[in-house]
Amino acid sequence: MSSTHVGSVDEFEHGDRKITTVDGASVGVFCVDGEFYALENECPHQGGPACTGRVGGEIVAEIPEPGKRKQERISDDLVVACPWHGWEFEIETGIHLGDDSICLDQFDVVVEDDEVYVTG
Ligand code: FES
Repeated sequence: MSSTHVGSVDEFEHGDRKITTVDGASVGVFCVDGEFYALENECPHQGGPACTGRVGGEIVAEIPEPGKRKQERISDDLVVACPWHGWEFEIETGIHLGDDSICLDQFDVVVEDDEVYVTG
């Protein structure tokens, strides 16, 4: 198992990401509220660079009762959208928003002395 240095903690703000390579695999490293998450950067759909797409909140829609107007809000849970066809994945879990049987593999992230490392 190898360890790849990604950068210093202070190089990241909420929602920031860096793309790195771990054991030959492209990996996206994301910062969410000061926590770090690493996901494979290969979309399970057609192999697109999933971690390079738009990062934003998940749109959550609720219909309070029949006949009432749908209410939408943006959740605090960040998702990344694959730039090729828009599949969206939760950054904290790598799980596809529409089908939880599909996911991006996760890598372990370690922070030591304010430096961020991904292990493969
Ligand atoms: S390759 Fe990612 S959504 Fe199609």
